[in-house]
Amino acid sequence: MLITGGAGFIGSALAHRLVEADHDVAVLDVLHPQVHADDATINLPPSVRFFTGDVTHAPDCDVALRLFKPSQIVHLAAETGTAQSLSEASRHGSVNVVGTTQLLDALSRCGHVPDQLVLASSRAVYGEGAWQSGTQVFYPPPRSHAQLVANEWDPRGSSGEPAVPLASRADRTEPRPTNIYAATKLAQEHILAAWTAAHDTSLSVLRLQNVYGPGQSLTNSYTGIVALFARLARQKQSLEVYEDGRIVRDFVYIDDVVEALFSAIAEPAAQARYVDIGSGAPTTIHELAQQLASVCDAPEPVVVPRFRDGDVRAARCDIEQAMTELHWRPKWSLDEGTRALLDWIGK
Ligand SMILES: NC(=O)c1ccc[n+]([C@@H]2O[C@H](COP(=O)([O-])OP(=O)(O)OC[C@H]3O[C@@H](n4cnc5c(N)ncnc54)[C@H](O)[C@@H]3O)[C@@H](O)[C@H]2O)c1
Repeated sequence: MLITGGAGFIGSALAHRLVEADHDVAVLDVLHPQVHADDATINLPPSVRFFTGDVTHAPDCDVALRLFKPSQIVHLAAETGTAQSLSEASRHGSVNVVGTTQLLDALSRCGHVPDQLVLASSRAVYGEGAWQSGTQVFYPPPRSHAQLVANEWDPRGSSGEPAVPLASRADRTEPRPTNIYAATKLAQEHILAAWTAAHDTSLSVLRLQNVYGPGQSLTNSYTGIVALFARLARQKQSLEVYEDGRIVRDFVYIDDVVEALFSAIAEPAAQARYVDIGSGAPTTIHELAQQLASVCDAPEPVVVPRFRDGDVRAARCDIEQAMTELHWRPKWSLDEGTRALLDWIGK
């Protein structure tokens, strides 16, 4: 088993789970300084074979694949800065798109076809996702700067009527990426689908919602909102919530994500398979902030009249398909998960 990006947040948790289950695990990771400020951020079981290398660099991919010939590859190596990707598009394109093609070319060069590839994709591929107004389902374009300045937070139907967001579900929600990171994640899906189909091998694409939990980088300022709020709440700072506080996200705990990846590996797909992984429960950013503030005894969060261009209004998924196809279900509530994260931060 080879995990690219295996020294990262999700990869190292998965490596521990796989080693516990007696898998032979190798990791290829460049130890990106934005994620790994120092060696303390690397937490892998001693039995893992570690290759320091860059997925965009053909010789690095050659070394890892020739030496290890993995029967399964979990592809996690990526540039993950959604906002950053707008000003650093080439870096995101290079690592996420070219890094994926380099890995495949290296497999071709060493004449090896793994039995299975697993990709951690993102809910970002859906953009604003599908919304419903009356009986009409529609895909709103990204919210414009002018809309946000006018505090028009929710997308509206074609005649301006109110609409509600629908939970994303791979077998019925069209991907419509609205930022560069998301476009590169969708490109990874397409590239791997084409290659695995041509080589008659298995592909599982897991579109992850907002993953949080112990092990997440706290020094990377581009890390998710849960880690950021948890750190601030621990310091008894007041949390600021943007828009009207009702941006919706689906926060999924790291152990649940690891179990979903583990299930996908244990039960390879006969054909390319796309599943959404989340808690399945919508949480507003205000609710998240209130929950963390209350546990940490921090001041009541404040809704501030600010917004970030490019933020989608609502993101959550329907996990029925994942439950059926992967025989998996999330176990961690947001309350339990955030307490575990706070305990870890407090250590
Ligand atoms: N964390 C989330 O909420 C989330 C949500 C959706 C999708 N994902 C996807 O899951 C995957 C893992 O995310 P994560 O949260 O563990 O991120 P992370 O930043 O913690 O880990 C990524 C790892 O990839 C490595 N890496 C970066 N560029 C590389 C390169 N060129 N060559 C080799 N290694 C490289 C980094 O050093 C890091 O160890 C990513 O593909 C990401 O797009 C994550």
